[in-house]
Amino acid sequence: MRAEAKASCLKPLTSDMLSNKAIEDIKKAIAKYPKKRSASMDALRIAQEESGYLTKEALEQIADMLDMTPVQLNEVAAFYTMYNKKPVGKHHVQVCTNVSCSLLGSEHIVEFLSKKLGVKKGETTSDKKFTLSEVECLGSCGTAPMMQINDDYYENLTEETIEEILKGLK
Ligand code: FES
Repeated sequence: MRAEAKASCLKPLTSDMLSNKAIEDIKKAIAKYPKKRSASMDALRIAQEESGYLTKEALEQIADMLDMTPVQLNEVAAFYTMYNKKPVGKHHVQVCTNVSCSLLGSEHIVEFLSKKLGVKKGETTSDKKFTLSEVECLGSCGTAPMMQINDDYYENLTEETIEEILKGLK
């Protein structure tokens, strides 16, 4: 409630701010925990689901709702690769390059994807369809090398399976 009032009083609403639905969802998340800040990961997820990434305005609103400073909340967001700090393409291709995946060729997978998509790590294609990222362990080490595209895991990757996967996404 306080965040809504503060945000709407101090600055005009922009599309980078949380919707009323997101604010309500975050309030429900906060109610589940004894301390407001314990809902920080839930709140970041809700904000990201809405905009595709964490806008500065949404981070400020959430920090206010959780009685945290934006810097404290940014530290939480920065620790996890699953939170996007800038806009990403329609398909966010996240290749795990941690130990198991690295031993089974994830660096080559990144290079291959980079060539196929025409972007470097951290970049988005000009048509905004694909963003290529390198991430830490996604908990699927037994099926390395692997990547996550949006909410789906793709495992035991080879050049051939990647070609098929990309074809299915275009
Ligand atoms: S090391 Fe890649 S999923 Fe764990």
